[in-house]
Amino acid sequence: RKGDTRQEEAVKRRQTASPPTTLQVQENLYDAAFPFYKQPLEMGRFSLDATRSFFNDSRQLRYYSPPPPGDSPQFDLRDGYRDRYVKRDESIKERLDHLLQWILLNQGLLKAGAASSETTSSWLNKDFVTWRGHLTKVLTTPYEKQEGWLLAVTLFQGTYYISEVETEAARRQREERTAAQEELMYMGYKFEQYLCAATSEGIPDTGGVVNTNEAFCTVVQTKLNGHSLLFAGEVDCADSKHRSQKAPDCYVELKTSKEIYSANQQRSFNRYKLIKWWAQSFLPGVPRIVAGFRDEEGTVASLKTFETMKISHMIRGDWNSWKPAVCMNFCNAFLSFVKKVATQDDPRLVYLFSWEPGSDVSYSKHKDPTLAFLPAWYVSSITE
Ligand code: A3P
Ligand code: MG
Ligand code: MG
Repeated sequence: RKGDTRQEEAVKRRQTASPPTTLQVQENLYDAAFPFYKQPLEMGRFSLDATRSFFNDSRQLRYYSPPPPGDSPQFDLRDGYRDRYVKRDESIKERLDHLLQWILLNQGLLKAGAASSETTSSWLNKDFVTWRGHLTKVLTTPYEKQEGWLLAVTLFQGTYYISEVETEAARRQREERTAAQEELMYMGYKFEQYLCAATSEGIPDTGGVVNTNEAFCTVVQTKLNGHSLLFAGEVDCADSKHRSQKAPDCYVELKTSKEIYSANQQRSFNRYKLIKWWAQSFLPGVPRIVAGFRDEEGTVASLKTFETMKISHMIRGDWNSWKPAVCMNFCNAFLSFVKKVATQDDPRLVYLFSWEPGSDVSYSKHKDPTLAFLPAWYVSSITE
């Protein structure tokens, strides 16, 4: 009898237990075996054109076109900054809109597996919908020392939608970017132009305009432990000469970085840059990263290919290194935390998760139309 009461009390406690208020981020808490991460599967693709219009196709996919073997590159990344640059308006917040548009146009595809699926009772048959870039930030959180984040979460018809909110600090930095910083940003895109062609047999048009409105995105489905995920991520190009023409095997991520001259610079590159490169490409299963190292003048004279799956081996011996397992275990814990906290299914309700370096993740609940991010056209199309 006594045992019974104790059991009943435990059940009662569990039923009335309030959700945890914070999530700890210390790296040592997540230093365990690598969690289950299902091989990412491409569910579809979409494109954004030069005017940022959405297309439910691959029209913006570009093809990897490196200089012929033996030719060392001489890419002037500053070329065209003044006169051949059309920059996307970063003050316009698109939130999840393009991905939601893709979802509405591809509902059949997504719900096809619903009947046979285990326990998901959501409309979409997915636990989480978000951008790859948001997940990259979650993955690198245990090691991030500078930039905090704000992630808005809405539970709607059984699916948790995660959309980033720009922090005050990020907004200030964006608005106060120096000319040199603006040019550096341009250079990352200019590098892409030197290595990408519009067709699989084509060659790069380096005299053209760099327009950062243009994007090609892959929509990927995967699973992290018990969490099913659907996310979109921008892909720089596909290699039509790669042995596997399946996506994401044929995708290539392009990156630029400062030329490395000293052991110190190498350490800092391994510690702060490679983690971001790895997280970004690992999530959607992009196997190769082609990096261009630029000198002080902004010229790339050498390319280096990194295999995403080998990056963790490269840094293993480093002092004060980072571990992929910590990143993934933390992400798993964060998604579990979101599920515990966001319990009310309501498209107008936002749970705002916030994190600053050195602190725990905390959250607040908002019924604020300026924070709500699921568009009326999306909500009504699903509810009706
Ligand atoms: P680099 O990656 O060579 O720095 P991505 O690499 O993700 O395809 O992004 C292409 C380019 O966009 C980047 O090139 C960089 O120039 C710019 N960019 C991307 N994210 C950025 C950020 N958070 N801040 C500033 N620039 C960014
Ligand atoms: Mg890109
Ligand atoms: Mg890139």
